[in-house]
Amino acid sequence: MEKIGLFEHIALTYVKAPDTSVSNDDLYRGLSASAGIPMAEFDKKEAIGTAGKEYSTLKRRVRWHQQTMKQLGLIENQARGAWRLTRKGKEMLTPAPASVVMLGFSTDLGIAIWGACQDVFSRSDEPITLCVTSPPYMLRNPRAYGNLDNEVGYIDFICRSIEPIVKNLVPGGSVCLNISQDIFEKGLPSRSMYCERLLLAIHDRLGLHLMDRLVWESNKPPGPIAWASKQRVQLNVSYEIVYWMTNDPSRVRSDNRRVLQEHSEQHLRLIKGGGEQRDGSYSDGAYTIRKGKSFSNQTAGKIPKNILKFSSTCADKRSLAKTVDEMGLPIHGATMPLALPKFLIEFLTGAGEDELVVDPFGGWFRTAKAAQSLGRRWMSSEMMGEYVLGGSKGFEGADGFRLGSAFAV
Ligand SMILES: C[S@@+](CC[C@H](N)C(=O)[O-])C[C@H]1O[C@@H](n2cnc3c(N)ncnc32)[C@H](O)[C@@H]1O
Repeated sequence: MEKIGLFEHIALTYVKAPDTSVSNDDLYRGLSASAGIPMAEFDKKEAIGTAGKEYSTLKRRVRWHQQTMKQLGLIENQARGAWRLTRKGKEMLTPAPASVVMLGFSTDLGIAIWGACQDVFSRSDEPITLCVTSPPYMLRNPRAYGNLDNEVGYIDFICRSIEPIVKNLVPGGSVCLNISQDIFEKGLPSRSMYCERLLLAIHDRLGLHLMDRLVWESNKPPGPIAWASKQRVQLNVSYEIVYWMTNDPSRVRSDNRRVLQEHSEQHLRLIKGGGEQRDGSYSDGAYTIRKGKSFSNQTAGKIPKNILKFSSTCADKRSLAKTVDEMGLPIHGATMPLALPKFLIEFLTGAGEDELVVDPFGGWFRTAKAAQSLGRRWMSSEMMGEYVLGGSKGFEGADGFRLGSAFAV
């Protein structure tokens, strides 16, 4: 993996201690540990300028970056030679520099990488069984981590991002893409049809087949405010789409027996009573029930419907948000509840087998966390250093947990 620049190391050193004044000496020690620079390098002096006065060139470079951060309003001087993050600095997101990929953290089962997914996955040739991901949504008002609002650019971005994953997908492996369809034509209450165009582009460019448009119904906050609450011409949204696609439908690895749900009391009574006690034919003969036959078999459980009902939050997510907030790191505003990736992983990968689950747009690594809790191998990338550090907090108890050197305090 490549090394990141001095600026990112300096930024991360302040980010790791967001509520503390960091003295320059502490900063040099932190840089030495995270960037692997021997402390002696900070004291090496060279003659600079016509007067020939000697300075440490490395310390000058560090202070030059400090000044840049100060001018950007990210750090403020606390006392002589001691700086700390400003409010704006605490909300700062540090993207991985172009083409740099660095270890964020790892466990015995997986690896989280700080870097752009296109860089990360194009360098791997590990066979992948499943990708569960939620890319930055296409939004008219972008979030802090950046979102595209033009259809052509967005579709190209998603195709280029998942292409290296699709290349390594095992036959019958799946890609699940959670996207929002709540983007509207400019100034109108009519929805953009980018979802449909994206689906067709993925099929045409990457050869994936659509298995289903799963509906994820959740307790989303009311919206779209402009069209439902103010203009009153739309309904409140309650779902997002998950496109489930595979490279080989004839060998798809899904198995609904891995995600059976409990039968309802009513259904259990029906089975106990010997099944249906009447004959019937419905929908012009498409659906028939036979007395004493239909629903008389004892079955292991109910096959789930393709409307997935999971609350948008969960205890794990709340507890992670609390920890991250206490650390003074930025809160990720678009994370999934663990239940969604858990369900998809169980449905689409085999338990106990050496299968790899990936997520190119890791965020707080919820897909990775779900994979970890189910004993699956995982690999995930995230562009923003602060989310890598925040997300790592969800893995601290995991076997073999280790922070990458750029993130270790
Ligand atoms: C919707 S969020 C994903 C949240 C994640 N599913 C979770 O539950 O925590 C999308 C994430 O993709 C990241 N991102 C955007 N562009 C990226 C890129 N090129 N490579 C890697 N990550 C990227 C953003 O910083 C953001 O955290």
